[in-house]
Amino acid sequence: MSLEAAKAAAAALGVCAVAKGHVVGIGSGSTVVHAVKALAHRHLTEQLNIKCIPSSFQAKQLILEHGLPLVDLDSHPVIDIAIDGADEADANLTLIKGGGGCLLQEKIVISCAKKFIVIADHTKDSKRLGEQYTKGIPIEVVPIAYVPITAKIIKEFGGEIVLRPAISKAGPCVTDNGNFILDWKFDKTKDFNWDDVNTKISMIPGVVETGLFVAMADKAYFGQADGTVTERSAK
Ligand code: A5P
Repeated sequence: MSLEAAKAAAAALGVCAVAKGHVVGIGSGSTVVHAVKALAHRHLTEQLNIKCIPSSFQAKQLILEHGLPLVDLDSHPVIDIAIDGADEADANLTLIKGGGGCLLQEKIVISCAKKFIVIADHTKDSKRLGEQYTKGIPIEVVPIAYVPITAKIIKEFGGEIVLRPAISKAGPCVTDNGNFILDWKFDKTKDFNWDDVNTKISMIPGVVETGLFVAMADKAYFGQADGTVTERSAK
């Protein structure tokens, strides 16, 4: 079974948690594409009457392309359920997110949700962060501060930091919010308290948001190579 089919299988189960009239937070990335397709099908065939809140430019386009009702946090500040992918989940369902650069709006949307469901393929299911995802933890920063932020993070926690380059553009990747992304390749041999690391990095002036999602996920569905889906709930 392809990785794409594994993502679709996880997404199909994830959207089962959406009920009639729900306000749904729509995440970003390749797995969410499958979830939006499945949601659009349910919306039509079951008259679900849902409303969708996007977490990125990509999510907004997906919602519109699939004919789903688009709303925002101004009119709907409380979300019933958020569905999103992850770059990696550890044994506690602490997540690395932001591989696609959308971590800030994703974290805002998820923080407004009563329930957060993760959908992913089996390559995202780890015991420890960094076990399978090797690109590091994304950190969204205000452009003028990227050099001092880099120095402060390395001084406090070690590791290496790369300013994420753009694809098809010279220079750095610029987020939906006009910021840069630092990918922090942390030392995988160290035992980090991710809650503490997240708090400390978030306190550095110029850091907008980190891609560490601690104690946010309620449940995760992981599509397997054999077509089955395993699930894990937050402890
Ligand atoms: C977007 O910034 C990310 O947080 C994605 O949710 C995450 O990278 C998962 O993406 P895929 O579903 O493409 O693996």
